[in-house]
Amino acid sequence: MPTLNRVKARLSAVAFGISMITAAGAQVASTAPTAANGTFADRSGIWGNAPAARPDTTNPFFKALGSNGRSCATCHAPNDGWSVSPGGLLKRFSNTSGFDPIFLPLDGTNCPTLPLDTLAHRQTASSLLLSRGLIRVELPVPASADYTISAVSNPYGCSSTSAISVYRRILATTNLAFLSDVMWDGRETLVSGALTDSLVNQANDAVHGHAAGTTAAAPSVIGSAVGLELLQYTAQIVDTAAGALDANGAVGGLGALSRIGLAAAAPGQPAFTLYANWETLSGTSDPAVAARASIGRGERIFNSRPMTIAGVAGLNDVASTDGQVHKVLIGTCGTCHNVVNVGTHNSHFLVDEGQARIIPKNVDLPLITVVQKSTGVRVQVTDPGAALTSGRFVDVGKFKVPGLRGFAAHPPYFHNGSAKSAADVVAFYNTRFNLNLSVQEATDLANFLNAL
Ligand code: HEC
Ligand code: HEC
Repeated sequence: MPTLNRVKARLSAVAFGISMITAAGAQVASTAPTAANGTFADRSGIWGNAPAARPDTTNPFFKALGSNGRSCATCHAPNDGWSVSPGGLLKRFSNTSGFDPIFLPLDGTNCPTLPLDTLAHRQTASSLLLSRGLIRVELPVPASADYTISAVSNPYGCSSTSAISVYRRILATTNLAFLSDVMWDGRETLVSGALTDSLVNQANDAVHGHAAGTTAAAPSVIGSAVGLELLQYTAQIVDTAAGALDANGAVGGLGALSRIGLAAAAPGQPAFTLYANWETLSGTSDPAVAARASIGRGERIFNSRPMTIAGVAGLNDVASTDGQVHKVLIGTCGTCHNVVNVGTHNSHFLVDEGQARIIPKNVDLPLITVVQKSTGVRVQVTDPGAALTSGRFVDVGKFKVPGLRGFAAHPPYFHNGSAKSAADVVAFYNTRFNLNLSVQEATDLANFLNAL
């Protein structure tokens, strides 16, 4: 694709202010890289977009499609990793005294009934959005549900037990070509339909919901917005310590991203091969080469560190490809994040890895009690996940496997924003799945995530 090659050539050559990096990566950044036109700084380096460094802002994605002044880009901000992050939100809050349309009471505050008369009230009302990038999503309990919601303890007043308020990270509208599930709980996934059809439904629902549209947007308008989303690719391109992520035989960055398909890693094969050439680097006093080696080691840990996967509904309680149910599965990160060099899952797959059950850490989130009608079994979660759409108790706490490219561009992480950084993500997995990572290994894995 000529456009991509041009973009890539420009990115590799000039955009970073690291004049010294060559294709072979022989030489190392002498000054800290700086984000240039169309690229953006994050905590670990610089990320960028393809096919164009800057999106076409005449696309309907950037136009107010409903009645409340919000566009898709209000929440999926192209300079905030196509999502939003606390840093960018705080700026928007202070620049507009809290009147930017993202903070509308509809879903940009913790509950629409909270007072908004003073600046301090507006800040308190949007605390979950400002601190973790969470939007309130209200979902009705399906009439046919095999469970009841017996209690909702919501610190902000949205305590209905029939229309449930959950608080979710704005998913990035980039790298969508790799999705098998749309939305955290997969509720916009047309399992037997094309991804484009799922995204068209999703966009229409977003116009009605987030943008308070009263009439449907024209199909051609929705089609253009979805077209922009589907062709958008985002990745980390420079790591502050390691330099260009496509140096020294590595294939990180944007270069190859649009050509990756939805292929799952074969059993025993690595899920990520971006930094295969860095996995064997060692023994050097050059700090940039040492940083590359760390990213390479992190990739190897992702691919091959054995994890004891147990108690994951959707995985440990269903027959796997060998026809057996494995209550304990020795897997790797790639067992779930299996799409090669992307990290989504290659088919419709919702699992409960326990994020919504971590109660003590999430005291600012509601506590929702779900009771199975047939057994009286009762669980408490901060978000019932896919159960709110399917009406099935077995789906409580299930979420989709998000893709990992462009990871560093949109902190915090997980559906509830509970992990502020790559280190927090790694700490969660280390504990939850008994990874026994040393301090160095945890750093390597975090460095790898930040280089995606
Ligand atoms: C008020 C903020 C807001 C607005 C405005 C908004 N979105 Fe979203 N979007 C979200 C949130 C929050 C989620 C995740 C919700 C969930 O999973 O329950 C999301 C999810 C998505 C996803 C799913 C991505 C994935 O990985 O599954 C797509 C696609 C998307 N939005 C497209 C759009 C489009 C197109 C528009 C404009 C028509 C739009 N959004 C407007 C907040 C917003
Ligand atoms: C059992 C399946 C499974 C395994 C194994 C797994 N993940 Fe995940 N991963 C998920 C699911 C599901 C989510 C979303 C969970 C949520 O938000 O509640 C997720 C979320 C993430 C996220 C957050 C991304 C974002 O944008 O918010 C990262 C990063 C991640 N996983 C990395 C890893 C790493 C590293 C490993 C190995 C140590 C790993 N995962 C192993 C299923 C899995």
